Formats: sequence, C-alpha cells, structure tokens
Amino acid sequence: MTYVNNLNGKNTIVMQLIDGKAIAAQMKKEIAEEVRAITAAGGKTPHLAAVLVGHDGGSETYVANKVRTCEEVGFKSTLIRFDSDVSEADLLACVDNLNNDPDVDGFIVQLPLPKHISEQKIIEAIDYRKDVDGFHPINVGRMSIGLPCFVSATPAGILELLKRYDIKTQGKHCVVLGRSNIVGKPVANLMLQKGYPGDATVTVCHSRTPNIKEICLSADIIIAALGVPEFLKGDMVKDGVVVIDVGTTRVPSSETKSGFRIKGDVMFEEVSRKASFITPVPGGVGPMTIISLMRNTLLAGKKEIYS
Ligand code: GUN
Repeated sequence: MTYVNNLNGKNTIVMQLIDGKAIAAQMKKEIAEEVRAITAAGGKTPHLAAVLVGHDGGSETYVANKVRTCEEVGFKSTLIRFDSDVSEADLLACVDNLNNDPDVDGFIVQLPLPKHISEQKIIEAIDYRKDVDGFHPINVGRMSIGLPCFVSATPAGILELLKRYDIKTQGKHCVVLGRSNIVGKPVANLMLQKGYPGDATVTVCHSRTPNIKEICLSADIIIAALGVPEFLKGDMVKDGVVVIDVGTTRVPSSETKSGFRIKGDVMFEEVSRKASFITPVPGGVGPMTIISLMRNTLLAGKKEIYS
C-alpha cells in the first residue's frame, strides 16, 4: 500500500507499508511448491520437530503457529511437550534423540525455558546441522564471517523484506535498537556483510546508549528490536526513513477477546508520517519469522547448507 505524506506542506514523501503478511503468504506458496516438487520426484518430506516446555501462553501460540504452518507447506511436524518441571538431563536426552533421528531434518526448542534449565546448554547440545533456529554458536559464528549457515528466523525475515521491497542498503546508515542474541546482534551483523542486503554502516543502540535520539535522527534505516512499546517517536526520525518494527510486546486491552494486544516498538501514527517504508505491527516482521523458519527447514531437508 502506498500513501503520500505531506510534510509541513513542503516535502512530499510516498510512504509504502511493508506488508509482511503478503510476502510471507507468497513465500509460503513458493515453499509449498518446492515441497510438492521434491516429493513428486520421490524425495523425502522435510520434517521439523518442536520441543515445548511448560504452558507459557506466548510460547504455546508460537509453537502452534509453527506446527500449523508446517502442515500448510506440506512438511511433516512433530511436537514434543514436557511439563515445566522436566529436568535438564531429560531435556538434553530429548535433544540427543532428535540429533540422532534420521527422519528429523531440523528442530527447535522453544524459548524461554524454566529457570532451572540452562538455555545455553540446551542450544549448544543441538546438532548445528539441525539447528534451524540458527542459535547454535557454530551457526552464529559462521554467519558473522559470512559463511553458509542457518540464519535465525527474525533477522532472516527482516532481510527478506528489505530484498523483496528492493530497499537500498549500500552505504546507508542503519541503526539497530537492541542488542539481543536473537535479533539485535545478528541483524546488525547481517546489515554490515558485503553485498545486498548489506553494505550498510551500522550503529547498535541499547539501554545504556545516552544519545539514542541523535543517532536515530541520522539513520536511513532503523530496525527497532528493544521490546519497549512505542519507544521510537516521530521526532526521533528524519524524513524518508525506512523503519522495521520488531517489537511484539503484549499489553492489556479491554478491546480484544484475548484481553491483550500486541504493540510494536514504534509510535506508528507519528513515524509513518515521515517514513518512506514502514512495517506495521501486527502484519510486518511477525509473519516473516515463521516463514523463515520454514525456509530453514526446507534447506535442512535438502541438505543445502550442511550435507
Ligand atoms: N522464543 C521467541 N522466539 C523464538 C524463536 O525464534 N525460536 C525459539 N526456539 N524460541 C523463541
């Protein structure tokens, strides 16, 4: 969708809404088509397993969506559930089984895990060749030096959006808000890789950065992944900025059946008036995350990254 922003009656900016839902639907079709071709030629159906510990509302929803999307693209999926008091040893044994199951091409352990289990220990126990989340240090390390690897789903989805909207990145100042291992650090790394979509000059801001507003005002591209609802305001961005909103904070709401609504890190009403491209929440980065996981699973099934 294209909108025209009239700024102070002077500049006119054509603002395009980045439709993650539509791009994800397109990618879903492309993946399903490829799965049909593989199986028609007698190849193996890609198989994703998901491990879910406990009954966290957010995790339940995410995993249910992942399993449903597997069905929609024609993958086999397996959901393995544990109560929240499962021991670390039992979870490690499950990871070991999945590592050694030749039918499972890739698997994920949904995070967060209960406090008594070391997430890092679990991630490092996953065979990196089946780590379709791209969280294992081998995949993170390979990504950081530009080698073939599984790239974690949210950063991969963000780059796919930039590509499909043909957004220029070379020489641009890209400001990443947030330094998480899942989004901030990897997306910053990808934006500075050689080639497209990369070649950007990258600044990473976080909770200890004193002059975030000043830095954001010099940004051509802002990727907001702080988890602070409506952090980025209209007076923090310049005209024509490209804004990718990764925030998905649940806030209480009396207007929805579920009793909450999802808020992004961007004050959309203000920032969209100055932006050339912007992702909405929901319907922007969110749908891209699941479809990127599907693509990693397809790559795992095809043994395209690791044989
Ligand atoms: N929790 C929140 N996001 C993710 C994700 O992408 N993968 C896993 N395994 N857990 C998550």
